[in-house]
Amino acid sequence: MNKGDIIVSLDIGTSKIRAIIGEYNGSTLSIVGVGSADGEGIRKGSIVDIDKTVHSIREAIEHAERMVGLQITSAYVGISGNHITLQPSHGVVAVSSPDREIGNEDIERVLQAAKVIAVPPEREIIGIVPKQFIVDGLDEIHDPRGMIGVRLEVEGSIVTGSRTIVSNLLRCVERAGIQNAGLVLMPLAAGAIALSSDEKKLGVVLVDIGAGQTSVSVFENGALAALSVLSIGGDHVTNDIAIGLRTQTEVAEAVKLRYGHAMVSAASNEITFKVPRIGSNVEKEFTQAELANIIEPRLQEIFLMIKQEVEHLGFVKEIPSGYVLAGGTACLPGIEKLAEFELDSPVRLAVPDHLGVRDSSFVNGVGIIQYANRHYARKNSVSVAPVQRKSGSFMERVKGWFSEFV
Ligand SMILES: Nc1ncnc2c1ncn2[C@@H]1O[C@H](COP(=O)(O)OP(=O)(O)OP(=O)(O)O)[C@@H](O)[C@H]1O
Ligand SMILES: [Mg+2]
Repeated sequence: MNKGDIIVSLDIGTSKIRAIIGEYNGSTLSIVGVGSADGEGIRKGSIVDIDKTVHSIREAIEHAERMVGLQITSAYVGISGNHITLQPSHGVVAVSSPDREIGNEDIERVLQAAKVIAVPPEREIIGIVPKQFIVDGLDEIHDPRGMIGVRLEVEGSIVTGSRTIVSNLLRCVERAGIQNAGLVLMPLAAGAIALSSDEKKLGVVLVDIGAGQTSVSVFENGALAALSVLSIGGDHVTNDIAIGLRTQTEVAEAVKLRYGHAMVSAASNEITFKVPRIGSNVEKEFTQAELANIIEPRLQEIFLMIKQEVEHLGFVKEIPSGYVLAGGTACLPGIEKLAEFELDSPVRLAVPDHLGVRDSSFVNGVGIIQYANRHYARKNSVSVAPVQRKSGSFMERVKGWFSEFV
């Protein structure tokens, strides 16, 4: 990457669409622009209304553009959702150069070889996450570039997704006038900024609790080992509040953001607020502790589901580095303590430590920029100013997603 390079990310979420502009000066990332818009047209992380989504993407992009005075023409697009699956794969090639030195081209070929597997027609191979390379039988190699060998193997996971969902996502981005610079699997992106390499090596679970979905990603031996997305999130908490306080969803959401607390025992009886009630002209007063009484059980349920999912993914033993929470719902005060108790493991919050965005709902967006800088920048570094549109089908253009190391 060159000094002053600009990278733009798009996180298309259920409640919010975020466009983030990052600038690299040497190895330092600064967030120079952030734009967001309500994620209308998205349910549980999937697009259900193209026009509304296109409109929201435009709004988020224009918002970010105004902050920096640049025109955004392309962006790295985050992808997640319960349609994404990982399956093990293995590729092997002979090293091509006469001096047997392994180069980029050999790595590209071995990753391609690992992608040669049959998938049903409704699914699309969207990339590969390499776990380790093996050179002439020597394993646990993370970057074989420059090594000498005859036989190069890769072991990893093939990432597949629903063809329909992926096409609709890309169609919306394209119709919003943005060229897709590359798709980035959001758990990998979030892992790039939220997790240390030691955590990833020892074993850690990254949990992104958004509005409509909660993604659970297990990292082990330095790589993404398993991923699952549950259709539950902050929207359920808001619905519970609306029912519990007998008020409108918008009021419940506002009350949650302002007074919400994850733990009844730590919430205050002194902090009070009034809400208009459905079917009544009189506002009723509640305490923060009463609100926490509604929030805590739903979060307990979410953490129970997360714990069961981690076990279901095959990780029955204790997770050495514990859990790291991201996503908007992780902003609820007291959630760390509650999670520690419910998950019976160490828990910490992921907060992107970059200018202006100390908020765990930005972990994905900032992570995409970091990930793209590390892994794609050599191929596509232009994301602002006029960019010529490429031709070819959506699928043609996004070939090679994640074809790099974690
Ligand atoms: N400070 C806060 N306190 C409590 N909840 C919050 C706070 N900030 C955001 N949230 C909740 O977090 C959720 C939004 O999180 P996020 O922005 O990560 O989701 P998303 O990416 O739009 O959706 P998803 O990932 O589910 O598709 C909403 O339910 C919102 O109410
Ligand atoms: Mg999200």
